[in-house]
Amino acid sequence: MAQVQGKIASRLTVIDDEVRRTVLEVLERTPYYAGPETAAFENELAAYCDTKYGVGVNSGTSALLVSLMARGIGPGDEVILPTNTFCSVPEAVLFVGATPVLTDVEWDGNISRAVVERHLTPKTKAIIPVHMFGHPVDMDPIMDLARDRNLFVIEDGAHALGARYKGRRVGSIGHTGFFSFAGKSITVCGQAGMAVTGDQSLAERMWSLRVHGWRQKVGNVWHESERLGLNLRTSELLSAIGRVNLRRLDGWTALRAKNAATYNAIFGASGAPITLPATRSDQEPGWLHYVILVPNRDALKASLAEDGIESGVHYEVPLHRQGAFRPSSQDASKYPVTEQLCADMLTLPSHPWMTDDEVQYVAEKVVAFYEK
Ligand SMILES: Cc1ncc(COP(=O)(O)O)c(C=O)c1O
Repeated sequence: MAQVQGKIASRLTVIDDEVRRTVLEVLERTPYYAGPETAAFENELAAYCDTKYGVGVNSGTSALLVSLMARGIGPGDEVILPTNTFCSVPEAVLFVGATPVLTDVEWDGNISRAVVERHLTPKTKAIIPVHMFGHPVDMDPIMDLARDRNLFVIEDGAHALGARYKGRRVGSIGHTGFFSFAGKSITVCGQAGMAVTGDQSLAERMWSLRVHGWRQKVGNVWHESERLGLNLRTSELLSAIGRVNLRRLDGWTALRAKNAATYNAIFGASGAPITLPATRSDQEPGWLHYVILVPNRDALKASLAEDGIESGVHYEVPLHRQGAFRPSSQDASKYPVTEQLCADMLTLPSHPWMTDDEVQYVAEKVVAFYEK
């Protein structure tokens, strides 16, 4: 069995000299928000995603909120989204006064055109495909449907910055896409997010909505509010860190993919009752979360914790069972795949700083659990 020292965290923040130097440089000058770091980060992240415009905000939730507001989604509109995702997705929809329509998912954890079609009504105005765990949704059929029905598509790339679908970066396929940097790929040390789009007028509305409805991209001067907005700006410090880490992201994704390949090989050869992450040949996943399906999940999780291994569940309680979202749909029998996933899913640690021995150790502990 592989030997490791200390606990294995599911997530790690590594602050090195370049990040330290960058933070100090930004701290010693103003502005602290709405300045050149944010503008540069927006351009760099949009270019990274093969699209034109970036709108830096203080969270992924805010990025989704401004995306919905910029399109004018509101009361009377229905927005289709998967039930096995993070609470902020229906939250933002409810905050603009629209109705979230929760759907079940496929076995890879993602929605599909077939799933979306079961929920279309004349009120449907938008779809939020969430690239769960970093695995891109099969977007082309969804975009075809959206074109036919004039639906707005917002890609939730919170788990998937850098992932590709048919060679295209996620975020560049829908009308807008957005990312979260809280504990995610590149700005693990703070809350921030960004929306991206190729549509200039949409970007202009989002830049305005994130700062009191003013007509401006950057800068701190007072302006007249042209529309109802909020203060959702991000910090120059986090934008600066994001710029440094964006240059490292593809290297980190390759390391996460290597971890995933090691896990897959060990589990595949083991005979243990483990269902490996479902991938398709048209995907290059971001591998933010390495998720397996296993029987007796909670006991396995507890046993790993005893061995100093942190694991997670994304997400334990589906949206249709959470009090805040229940009005849209209460019936758990409508979501059989999600219910099964919620019982069986386990996210194993797989970050770029794990050693091969650590990955092997975790895998061996998982397999050993089923050999007891
Ligand atoms: C799938 C998904 N969407 C949206 C968000 C919201 O991002 P944030 O926490 O930056 O607001 C998250 C955050 O974890 C997420 O996992």
